[in-house]
Amino acid sequence: MKIADRTFLISGGVSGLGLATARALHEQGAYISLLDLNADNGTKIVKDLGPRAKFFETDVTDTQAIAAAVQGTVAWVQETGKALGGVIAGAGVGMPGLIIDKKNQPLSMESIDFVLNINLRGTLDLVRQVVPHMTTSTPTGPDNSRGVIIMIASSAAFDGQMGQVAYAASKGAVASLTLPLARDLSKYGIRAVTIAPSMFDSAMTRMMSDKVREGLEKSMEFPRRAGLPEEFARLVVECVGNEMLNGTVLRLDGAMRMPARL
Ligand SMILES: NC(=O)c1ccc[n+]([C@@H]2O[C@H](COP(=O)([O-])OP(=O)(O)OC[C@H]3O[C@@H](n4cnc5c(N)ncnc54)[C@H](O)[C@@H]3O)[C@@H](O)[C@H]2O)c1
Repeated sequence: MKIADRTFLISGGVSGLGLATARALHEQGAYISLLDLNADNGTKIVKDLGPRAKFFETDVTDTQAIAAAVQGTVAWVQETGKALGGVIAGAGVGMPGLIIDKKNQPLSMESIDFVLNINLRGTLDLVRQVVPHMTTSTPTGPDNSRGVIIMIASSAAFDGQMGQVAYAASKGAVASLTLPLARDLSKYGIRAVTIAPSMFDSAMTRMMSDKVREGLEKSMEFPRRAGLPEEFARLVVECVGNEMLNGTVLRLDGAMRMPARL
């Protein structure tokens, strides 16, 4: 599938992995619709990218806010004539917490809901609301393709550490829904792919203590460093362009297997 002159929605698109993805697709001629909570970053980035980018202040836990952003993007597509090429669901958060703490208190439901609502519900809700606008687009290319859905899981989907039950549950669920999503959408020529990164430089990992960061780097085989957001974005570009990538979860992790604790 060609990237140029197609429109892509990216949630979490104004920071870290989502922003690198937005820049990479934009560089190849795509139109970018950024959905994020962070309006300050959104405004700056749209100014920087120019007329092929739009920002919609959106909380992905709010179904109506997603609906407004999707409607706004569809109206923009009608204006530009640059059909939807896909969605990258990148909005995500981590909130560590042991299932039972030192005072024998269980992990709070607020904390569990916070993570699941953004990482899982927010991902599925965005995908659910974009899909009807993709199924009705004109198929293109030799495969009659209508685009791709790319989701972000994590190494924690497979080897979650202590304190990651909620995060691992959210990311494991995203990994698990990839194949049934691809199966549901195959008759429309729409693919679904999930990328599961290990530690990458972003606002999320900059919040980690040096001890945690160094511990994670030590558990990598090669290269022994955090991934660069641009390296993540390169895989997204491949996922858009390569029609054989479908229904799968791609680990992007420098052979890291996270230990139980650091
Ligand atoms: N950086 C890593 O090491 C790493 C590793 C594995 C998975 N991931 C996943 O990659 C994705 C991107 O993370 P990142 O590292 O780029 O972090 P980041 O903090 O740099 O970016 C996350 C973006 O999501 C936005 N966001 C948060 N809650 C939102 C909400 N409710 N509605 C809309 N937007 C919201 C934030 O404003 C931010 O712009 C996340 O799903 C994260 O879990 C990151």
